[in-house]
Formats: sequence, structure tokens, C-alpha cells
Amino acid sequence: MTAEYKKQLKVPESDPYFFMPRSVIVNLQRMDELSRKHPVNVLVAGKQGCGKSSLVRQFAARYNRPLTIFQVGLLTEPGQLFGQQRLREGDTYYQEFLFPQAICTPRCAVHLEEINRPEHPKALNELFSVLGEDRSIWVDELGLAEVAEEVIFFASLNEGPQFTGTEVLDAALRDRFYTIRLDYLPPATEQEVIVLKTGVSEEDADKIIRVIHRLRHDPRNPLAISTRHSLMVGELVNTGASLKEAFTFTLHISKDALESCLVALHFGIGETEADGEEYELF
Ligand SMILES: Nc1ncnc2c1ncn2[C@@H]1O[C@H](COP(=O)(O)OP(=O)(O)O)[C@@H](O)[C@H]1O
Ligand SMILES: [Mg+2]
Repeated sequence: MTAEYKKQLKVPESDPYFFMPRSVIVNLQRMDELSRKHPVNVLVAGKQGCGKSSLVRQFAARYNRPLTIFQVGLLTEPGQLFGQQRLREGDTYYQEFLFPQAICTPRCAVHLEEINRPEHPKALNELFSVLGEDRSIWVDELGLAEVAEEVIFFASLNEGPQFTGTEVLDAALRDRFYTIRLDYLPPATEQEVIVLKTGVSEEDADKIIRVIHRLRHDPRNPLAISTRHSLMVGELVNTGASLKEAFTFTLHISKDALESCLVALHFGIGETEADGEEYELF
């Protein structure tokens, strides 16, 4: 095993401020139990930034499992997860990648990110036998790679308006998974997360959440604002930025849309620059 593999097969750190619906927590406990009988596959679906990757990470942390993450969206050809022919001093050799190591590691949580977006339509073929009844795959260069005891596969799937066309996962593949559907945290919980993680005051967090809630639910142009962005706004406000500054620097949103949202919520927009902004030496 190379040093890189050892580093990547670590149990992740736990996030003390990670919130999930109770039903999800209960079902994850069941997944852990079921995995003792046979390998388990769990699909986590939801909008960008709603906590899918964090959920898998925190599952691994909570159940003391090594975690490995693979970006399915980057796969451009079949076989790519397992290894690659390489050249060294005129000789070719097969370099084994992390994936076969991961599936052969007992109790490993294997996260296949953005499973609905492989670059190559056949890139997922080899996963069928690993995720299906066989639970093993023959790789000429490696021999039989068998899924180890208590391995859990997680696959995440981005849903939302900007992902139309990619969210239809092949039925045969979907058939092999339990499904957890996540949404953004309820406003009161997201406010608590912002306070706990950024140190911003309750009052400021309340304002931040009200702006975000309004933008997410704008009937004409709903924005998918991730929890990461709410945290980034919180951090900026905590370093002294105004609401308007914090949102301007964080979101891709027009000045008008932001100002009309702030005005509608009676939060004020500070001074407006009539003739554009002044430039100074940096
Ligand atoms: N339920 C949650 N509780 C606490 N923090 C969260 C939660 N969901 C998301 N976050 C925070 O938001 C960030 C983005 O979440 P992430 O898991 O990367 O989203 P996704 O994978 O769905 O795009 C994470 O770094 C995490 O700190
Ligand atoms: Mg993610």
C-alpha cells in the first residue's frame, strides 16, 4: 500500500454540528446493521450543497469506518476506476488505483459522487457487478476484486433545475440502492448551524437565513443556495461585513435582485454609490 492510499483510507473527523432528520439517522443505523449481513448500497439525492457529501462523511465518522470518495463525474472511460497502464523506463506496467483497495477494505464507506454524471456512458458498467449480486469483478490486471465484509457503497445524485437531463439514473443501477432524499435544513436549524459554525450572533444568523429563505423560494427565480454558502455569508458577517457585502461577495446574484430582497425584508442596503465605486491604491 502506498502512503497515499493510507492517507485516503482514514476514518474522517466527526462534525459536532451536523444535523439530520431523525428518520435519516435511524435509517443510517439500520444500514450499518444490514451491512453486517451483506454489502449495502445507499443513494443520497438532493440539491447541490444540501449536505450529501457531509452525510456520507459523518456516517463514516460515526461508525468508525474508513471513507473513500470517487468523482464519477470525472470518469471518461470504462475501467478507469481500477487502474491504468503506465510507462516506466520503456516498460509498461499496471498501476492500481484506490478503488480496488477501497472495495477490498472491510467496513469501508465508498462514496461515488455525482453518479448521474459520468463523462462516458459506459464508465459505470464495471460498477454493476460490484454493486449487484456478484459483489466482485474480474480485472485482467488484478484478478478477482471482491467486495470485503461490511462495505457500504454510497452514491450521491445532484437534483435541481440546473441538473435536468442528468438526474435520470439508469433504472437497473437505481434498483440496487436504498434511497435517502435530503433537502436544505429547516430555517431554524440552519440558523443554529450558522451560529455554531461561524460564531455569528443569533440576530445576524436570523437575518442571513431570512434572506436565503426568500431567495431560495423566489417564485420567479428560485436560487439553489447551498448550506456552504450560508456558512460563507455567516463567516463574512462575523468578520464585520454588512449583510449586503457578505451576500454580494458570496452569491452569483444581481445587485438589483439582492437589494430588492433586502428592502423587502426591511434590512436596509446601506449607502448606494450613485456614480459607481471609488478606486484606491491596494
Ligand atoms: N445538515 C447539515 N448540518 C450541518 N452542516 C451542514 C449540513 N449540510 C451541509 N452542511 C455544511 O454545508 C457544506 C456543504 O455540504 P455538502 O455536504 O458538501 O453538500 P452536497 O454534497 O450536498 O453538495 C458542508 O461543508 C457542511 O459544513
Ligand atoms: Mg457533494
